[in-house]
Amino acid sequence: MIYSKFLGVGSYVPPRVWTNQDLTSLMDTSDEWIQQRTGIKERHWVDQDSATCTSDLALEASVRALEAANVKKEEIDLIILATLSPDHEFPGTGCFLQSKLDLPGIPALDIRQQCTGFIYGISIADQFLKSKQYKKVLVVGAEVHSKGLDKTTRGRDVTVLFGDGAGAVVMGAEEGAPDEKTSRLINTFLHADGRFAKELWVPEPGLAHPGPRMAPERFDGREYPQMNGKTVFTYATKKMPEVLMESLSAAGKTLEDVDLFIFHQANLRINEMVAKQLRIPEEKVYNTISRFGNTTAATIPLGIDEAVKSGRLKKGMLVASAAFGAGFTWASALYRW
Ligand code: ACO
Repeated sequence: MIYSKFLGVGSYVPPRVWTNQDLTSLMDTSDEWIQQRTGIKERHWVDQDSATCTSDLALEASVRALEAANVKKEEIDLIILATLSPDHEFPGTGCFLQSKLDLPGIPALDIRQQCTGFIYGISIADQFLKSKQYKKVLVVGAEVHSKGLDKTTRGRDVTVLFGDGAGAVVMGAEEGAPDEKTSRLINTFLHADGRFAKELWVPEPGLAHPGPRMAPERFDGREYPQMNGKTVFTYATKKMPEVLMESLSAAGKTLEDVDLFIFHQANLRINEMVAKQLRIPEEKVYNTISRFGNTTAATIPLGIDEAVKSGRLKKGMLVASAAFGAGFTWASALYRW
């Protein structure tokens, strides 16, 4: 049997930290409001005067993941990059990352699945590995949100939530008969419901209107993310437990079997509510939101890397991840680390 496993993980956040207090110099907000509603204390943003973009952060995380995996970059057969903040409209940011890694010729694929992008990415990698088309795949989630946010009071509901960062894993194909304790990706489940696409989106520049795509009169704030926060919250707290249970029951596992839950980090309250609904003890949920905010596609690999580094995630542990985000999209992954 061919199965896939994580060979190494790496992450990177830009050095500059913006505390909630720092944001009060840009907009009408407060540390108390942000912490109470979201659990966020600070986030990392790239230097706004620099040319640093998503593929730069992706490169740093990729190099670290390759090192942790003890895999030479030349062994990589495919790059999958998940982001909602691409370097350019086209070509895909995966191509820019491939060039920065100096790996000409191998396929580079972009995924636009927002907060669930990383789980979609490892799921796609899993299919290529199990089909024997590729032996090693680099999956990266990377975001530079900070350059695309409305940093005035008008955009405060969205802007305070997001941080920049990147996380990457190297996945490899293994052959053999995995047993209960074998490190591997056990399953993934993916979902989307485009009826809710406009509940969390960036409308412009776009084509779904008469006239040219770049008509300046359309850039009246609609070039920034628009979010119906309450709807997102309601569906996230419903769909994350559902998809998590989908993974567990398919694998014949229970919540008690899971050693660590590494959920997407959109809002601490969402994860607390998910844990409460499922009666998951707090200490089994690994949260990073207070230090990084929501780093969208980077969140889960960044969380995995932090959990490994801090000693919370050890070899042989059973881990469950679930994510919910724009699209709406939601997904889960169950893996033995
Ligand atoms: N600072 C201070 N006040 C604020 C801020 C802010 N940053 N943002 C909004 N407010 C104000 C509002 O203007 C409103 O004021 P009003 O009552 O005078 O009108 C008040 O606070 C309450 O606003 P609500 O939007 O009702 O606040 P809510 O309790 O819903 O919390 C939040 C907002 C935190 C955004 C919440 O809805 C949430 O977390 N939703 C989920 C977000 C999420 O998961 N997003 C996923 C994004 S990931 C992706 O896929 C891209």
